[in-house]
Amino acid sequence: MVQKDGPKPIAAVVGAGRTKFGELWYDNPEKLLVEAGLECVESVDKGIGRKDIQACFFGSFLYQHTNKRGLIPGYMAQELGLNIPISMTEAACASGGAAVYNAVLGIQSGKFDIVLAGGFEKMSDRVDKIMDDLMFAADPHEFDAGFTFIGLYAVMMSRYLYDYGKGDERCLDAMAIVASKNHHHAMGNPYAQYRREFTVEAVKRSALVADPVRLLHCSPVSDGAASLIITSPEKAKEMTDTPIYIYASQQATDSVALSARDNLTGVKSTRLAMGAALEQAGMKISEIPLAEVHDCFTIEEVMYMEDSGFYNTGEAWKGIFDSYKDYEGLRHIPYVRGDAEVIVNPGGGLKADGHPVGATGVRQVFEVYRQLRGEAGDCQVESDGDLDAALCHNIGGTGGICTVHIFGRGA
Ligand code: COA
Repeated sequence: MVQKDGPKPIAAVVGAGRTKFGELWYDNPEKLLVEAGLECVESVDKGIGRKDIQACFFGSFLYQHTNKRGLIPGYMAQELGLNIPISMTEAACASGGAAVYNAVLGIQSGKFDIVLAGGFEKMSDRVDKIMDDLMFAADPHEFDAGFTFIGLYAVMMSRYLYDYGKGDERCLDAMAIVASKNHHHAMGNPYAQYRREFTVEAVKRSALVADPVRLLHCSPVSDGAASLIITSPEKAKEMTDTPIYIYASQQATDSVALSARDNLTGVKSTRLAMGAALEQAGMKISEIPLAEVHDCFTIEEVMYMEDSGFYNTGEAWKGIFDSYKDYEGLRHIPYVRGDAEVIVNPGGGLKADGHPVGATGVRQVFEVYRQLRGEAGDCQVESDGDLDAALCHNIGGTGGICTVHIFGRGA
């Protein structure tokens, strides 16, 4: 709950747009970004023009490789018909979150009043090479050893099952529940790549890709874009009566190689960014009712529920299993611990909404912006007016970078 006398907001979101995610064979990345950008400019309640945008912050991981283009700011200036400062961030799957982080810095510094933050990726065109391309975000020795990202997360999932599951089948069920729950959440999401239910058993029976990771534990290969209009808290009310305020914006980093980590069942960059964000917002994790959590593979959602402090280390799988047992069938299935409840990935997360990597961190903000404004349509989380805060957590690689943003409707 955002307190009246608590920390002040540092920025505000006043517009949000996105494309559908999926295999968008006929669209190039620039067209996707323009589509999301136009939607977000047009969504600003009291109206802004293209020329009101003073700077842009974009995130994309693989544009140079998938589309053989560099100097992205130049291409984007041409598409936008603007000659303003445009910055590009590459932070693997957290490229979008890093773009939001940089956009907020631009506002906080006082240099800009209105900026556009966008993320995009076009992966499907490189269907036969995308696995290798993604490995730019891994250690070269991991690539040389034959790993893909599915393989790297298989290592983390194996270790988690060994350390904490100790042969209990319910731990494996919890990994499948994350997928089943997120696909269920996506059923009301018109933008999602997969609006399709999968039972826990179907996930557990899906094709084995890298033992123990199965096809339905994975997010898909996706194309898409998302964008936001971010402004200062002072200017926000000039653009809408219902801005969504940003109370915390944090980023933390760690080594790229798994071999350099002190443990494989958690991610230090999440713990650091999450801790700093909660402190900045003056909140406890148990006070956040809605979260976008990076679930590229289902083991990630399990680990991050521990790294965030919502569950104790080694206990998220039990919490997830019990929550699902108690709430299966509800439109949104919360994770519960004591009196605390949080809905995670209300639109399907990366698993079902899709994961065009550079777009994901921005898409997460699009989702919570609409949820907090009560505009999420068939995906809207039902609440008794207590949906007043949300967080977005975005990871790059196996945790080499993490961004966390906390939002609220204002005190
Ligand atoms: N979730 C749900 N369904 C999926 C899916 C996914 N992740 N991936 C594919 N499907 C579906 C397809 O729609 C298709 O369904 P259909 O038979 O009803 O048409 C079926 O599964 C087979 O699809 P196909 O494209 O042949 O799968 P694939 O074997 O080429 O790819 C993965 C499956 C898991 C390998 C692929 O989704 C993948 O690589 N995911 C990980 C992406 C990644 O690493 N991201 C970045 C991490 S840092």
